[in-house]
Amino acid sequence: MSNLLDLSGKNILVTGASSGIGKGIAKLLSNLKANVILVARNEENLQKVFNELDPGDHSYYRMDLNRLEKIEDLMNFICHDGHKLHGLVHSAGISRTVPVQYLKLDELKDIMSVNFYSFMELVKQFSKKKYHDSGGSIVAISSISSKVGARGLSAYSASKGALESAIRSMALDLAPKNIRINAIAPGMIATQMYDGLMEIANNTDLEADIKKRQVLGIGIPEDVAYAAAFLLSGASRLITGTTLVVDGGYSAH
Ligand SMILES: NC(=O)c1ccc[n+]([C@@H]2O[C@H](COP(=O)([O-])OP(=O)(O)OC[C@H]3O[C@@H](n4cnc5c(N)ncnc54)[C@H](OP(=O)(O)O)[C@@H]3O)[C@@H](O)[C@H]2O)c1
Repeated sequence: MSNLLDLSGKNILVTGASSGIGKGIAKLLSNLKANVILVARNEENLQKVFNELDPGDHSYYRMDLNRLEKIEDLMNFICHDGHKLHGLVHSAGISRTVPVQYLKLDELKDIMSVNFYSFMELVKQFSKKKYHDSGGSIVAISSISSKVGARGLSAYSASKGALESAIRSMALDLAPKNIRINAIAPGMIATQMYDGLMEIANNTDLEADIKKRQVLGIGIPEDVAYAAAFLLSGASRLITGTTLVVDGGYSAH
């Protein structure tokens, strides 16, 4: 019997691969013998992650995903010479903690642009026959904030809610192409973004509250990476249009 969890030789594009969860996903995928295409803006960090990958046919591309009109060029570049993708993970994302009274339209647009619009454009391009290998699996890194409110996170929560809603409909659009599409909603994971949230909140009560609610403790990028590897693999072949919650019990209350 073939091992449906096997990802060896799969070409998987990971956005936000220069740090945090995206970096954790890229490293695990290379460990599972996939070929990883790293995308983010910071070239130095991309190169560092690239150097930490297990051997494989990996590459990295510097790209600001706010430049939506350039995403097709990126796909063209990656898929030169008939090279095709088997998977896509959208981990690039930004967060701002701003109470709605002070939220500026430009801040809302920035968050929607990276977290949501770029994902829609990536999916649109991935779904073109010339870019995928007779099907594939797409995973978006959403957040528990799509389901649970938190002060100052209205724009961020909306961007993640948009991802999850769109995924349900896109799953129906893409099923005839044999493309599955799902989200992962992590709770608190120890990364730069988490540190930023704690710094802004400057509030030990918040950290204590998260630790209390997330009964299995604060996560690490690998916790999300294993869930992504499962959703990218054939072992999840009947799963599409849904969100896998990886939140250490946060939303179980
Ligand atoms: N950490 C958590 O507790 C947590 C919880 C739930 C969900 N998430 C989600 O997980 C994802 C990863 O977050 P993280 O915690 O790993 O944060 P992170 O360490 O700050 O990583 C964010 C990544 O997004 C990339 N990025 C940001 N803006 C970009 C742009 N305009 N174009 C291209 N790449 C861009 C960054 O790379 P460059 O700066 O190099 O461009 C970086 O690689 C995000 O979608 C976040 O919403 C995180």
